[in-house]
Amino acid sequence: MELYKELVNKLMYLIALLTILIIVVLFGVINHDKIWSTQLEDPILEWNPYDIVLNNSDVPEDVKEGFLLLDSSAIYMGPLNKDPKLRFSGNKLSCTNCHLNGGTKSGAAPWFGMIDKFPQFSGRSNKVGTLVERINGCMERSMNGIAFPENASQMKKMIAYMEWLDYGAPKLNSKKVNGYPGIVIPFKAVDKKRGEEIYVRECVVCHGTKGEGILYQESKRGYQYPPLWGNDTYNDGAGMNRVLTAAAFIKNNMPYLQASWENPKLSDEEAFHVAGYINSFPRPSKRNKEMDYPDKKLKPISTPYGPWADNFSSEQHKYGPYPPLIKYYKKTFGIKKSK
Ligand code: HEC
Ligand code: HEC
Repeated sequence: MELYKELVNKLMYLIALLTILIIVVLFGVINHDKIWSTQLEDPILEWNPYDIVLNNSDVPEDVKEGFLLLDSSAIYMGPLNKDPKLRFSGNKLSCTNCHLNGGTKSGAAPWFGMIDKFPQFSGRSNKVGTLVERINGCMERSMNGIAFPENASQMKKMIAYMEWLDYGAPKLNSKKVNGYPGIVIPFKAVDKKRGEEIYVRECVVCHGTKGEGILYQESKRGYQYPPLWGNDTYNDGAGMNRVLTAAAFIKNNMPYLQASWENPKLSDEEAFHVAGYINSFPRPSKRNKEMDYPDKKLKPISTPYGPWADNFSSEQHKYGPYPPLIKYYKKTFGIKKSK
């Protein structure tokens, strides 16, 4: 009897062990990708600039300075710099207000791979442009400022940071979603009333009733929540001033901390209406915009300023509906437009 009991006990023990083993193996099979592959969802799971960049002794000094220029732009290259000669950006935005998490967030036009990507053809200037020229494009438009000279030390440092992202940043994976993934373009024009409703519901707490944003309490640090319209934000020549580009940014990234490219909060249509709403207000004006896109047929269709290679109204370029324009460019020039 004793022997029998002991046998049963041993058997139970074995069964329990086997069950655990099966569970472990099953878990491993199901989560194989997560455990073994380097292809996780986001390049840097937790973006903490202090651990990853600033207090990391493996990071070269020029890379750290590049990061500060990109992430605290108003202080290091903008209106909050004490030395007027070092002020190149004209508003108090940071580059990383639109290229989130230090330019590492998938779906927020990340800066991985920039060294390989450039030089690249640019329709805006109708020639092959360098990374320096691309950055200066954002300087003159998104930052409403002036271009850095080709060999400026600030430019070298910003590029050193981008280069470091490719070789030195601790990547937990390599899955990248470049640019701002586009929205499905609605068959209608922007409805500013609906845009306003969405704005009040989803955006106003951080960006303010007049799109003015919120400064840090210690206002010398610049904005905690950046402005969307008015004098202190991107100018009318910026990519963000195109409804389709802004909608793509918003869908994949806003409301802040609630949306990502994998897990957006707004629908494509909501992003479209709210993008049209924020871009319906005045903002700084870029000079010589009419010189952009020497070959006018290459101009993105939602560029709100002319001239264009078509006869659609400026209202329709600014707010849609876009499908007729898309059809026109396809038929007339064989060009597929998406923004
Ligand atoms: C107001 C938003 C905004 C700000 C601020 C901004 N950018 Fe951009 N940037 C954009 C947009 C929009 C694009 C185009 C992305 C696209 O077409 O998918 C872009 C593109 C770029 C690209 C090319 C990315 C690629 O995938 O080819 C680089 C590099 C870049 N910006 C650097 C900068 C730097 C450096 C700064 C600061 C000096 C800056 N940006 C500030 C909105 C911004
Ligand atoms: C919880 C606060 C919060 C909410 C809500 C929010 N944002 Fe933002 N938004 C931010 C922050 C913070 C940034 C800058 C991100 C960074 O620097 O990492 C930003 C950046 C932006 C930018 C690019 C920078 C600029 O100033 O142009 C746009 C455009 C934008 N938000 C639009 C929206 C829209 C539209 C909504 C509503 C659908 C929204 N945001 C909701 C906090 C918020």
